[in-house]
Amino acid sequence: DLCKLCHSKKNYVLPIGNINGKILLVGEAPGAEEDIHGKPFQGPSGKLLYKAVLESGINTEDVAITNVCMCRPPNNRTPSKEEMQTCVPYLMWFINQMLNLKVIVLLGSTPLMAVLKLQRIMDKRGSFMNKDGRTFLPTMHPAAALRNMNLYPLLVSDLRTAFLHASGQIEYGSYKLIDTTDAATRILDRLEQVEEVALDIETGSENEPDFQHDPILGCLLYTSD
Ligand code: URA
Repeated sequence: DLCKLCHSKKNYVLPIGNINGKILLVGEAPGAEEDIHGKPFQGPSGKLLYKAVLESGINTEDVAITNVCMCRPPNNRTPSKEEMQTCVPYLMWFINQMLNLKVIVLLGSTPLMAVLKLQRIMDKRGSFMNKDGRTFLPTMHPAAALRNMNLYPLLVSDLRTAFLHASGQIEYGSYKLIDTTDAATRILDRLEQVEEVALDIETGSENEPDFQHDPILGCLLYTSD
């Protein structure tokens, strides 16, 4: 009664992958190819997502994939609030079936809004968020990286963050990734407000070819608060 999408859909698009996996990827809603096959992420953005998953180090056998909405919105429009609200309980039900789940990757602004009620995906991406005892990692939708390939490395980097967390190599809340000028500007603003800062710079080895040109691989900042 709440949602009419089930009348225009060809197939319900249900989760695929390993229900015992550690990582769940959540997209927006099925498109044309997903509607035909009854499986999420079968089209061009799905192909880019699988490529990014492989490059990030994630083992595809450790992943389940689904969407906020299980029926295709006509003309691939963004699902309405009501359509999302109809399906979110099913998403939550599925999440609760994943007993080994470590991190839920929210692909784009629709799952970010539907699940965490937050906007501005590009500000939130790459940072872990906790809600009701679950760990979420927002990142951009692969369709955004299809439109602008400059975003693709950020998608891979966020998936790698999910992988490192799921494999116990980093803890939720232990760091914030600074890999854009915007994020660097925000941290500089914040550093002006704290009294003490410690800086730990990580370099590559002198044998690495790029060492002369690009000596700093990363740094950790610790603030007094
Ligand atoms: N985009 C999505 O958000 N989900 C799919 O399954 C396919 C494209």
